[in-house]
Amino acid sequence: MKTVKIAPSILSADFSKMGEEVASLEKCGADLVHCDVMDGVFVNNITFGIKMVEDIRKRTSLPLDCHLMIVNPEKYVERFAKAGADIITVHYEACKENLKEVLLQIKETGVKCGAVINPDTPVEKIKEVIPLCDMVLIMSVFPGFGGQKFISSALDKVREVRMIVETLGKEIDVEIDGGVSLENVEEVKAAGANVIVAGSAVFKAEDRAKTIAALKA
Ligand code: DX5
Ligand code: ZN
Repeated sequence: MKTVKIAPSILSADFSKMGEEVASLEKCGADLVHCDVMDGVFVNNITFGIKMVEDIRKRTSLPLDCHLMIVNPEKYVERFAKAGADIITVHYEACKENLKEVLLQIKETGVKCGAVINPDTPVEKIKEVIPLCDMVLIMSVFPGFGGQKFISSALDKVREVRMIVETLGKEIDVEIDGGVSLENVEEVKAAGANVIVAGSAVFKAEDRAKTIAALKA
């Protein structure tokens, strides 16, 4: 079993003190910082963009895991890479037949790349590009908001991707995002996810360090 990494989503942070929030995550044992970029078009919500990533970069040495929930991500990947992203993930639903091209474009910037699928998109749609990915992200909620209920059919997709990755024999992370908490994290890990995004579970916790440790254990 691969080591499990916890990627708290700053979507649930207090945006008015993001620097402190990110520093706190690092102190509390987070492995990555999950940055949810939303444009109000691909999803029904607007969060932040390149400037936020650039400023967060100065506040932490943790890898920045940038989840782009935007249309035409190819227009912006270079700038997110320059801003300090360590990994950029893009949605199949936003790229469709250009997904491979966009992944290669991300790689060219020197940043790790990943493909994301929504709860109603089958793994089949990204199967061909998995060998190109450093990470595959399975959404366990429809993107847009934190604090939603975990959609358990995502577990089968995690198992399916884990099997493909094992067959390939490559170092590809399997990430899950949405509604993960201490109640379901065991199942999620057992299915084969090794990068766990947790927004509300970490930010609403009384003790962030304990919660991150418990999610990882
Ligand atoms: C959803 C985002 C997730 C989400 C996770 O659109 O991509 O990263 O904020 O938050 P929780 O863990 O609260 O579901
Ligand atoms: Zn996310």
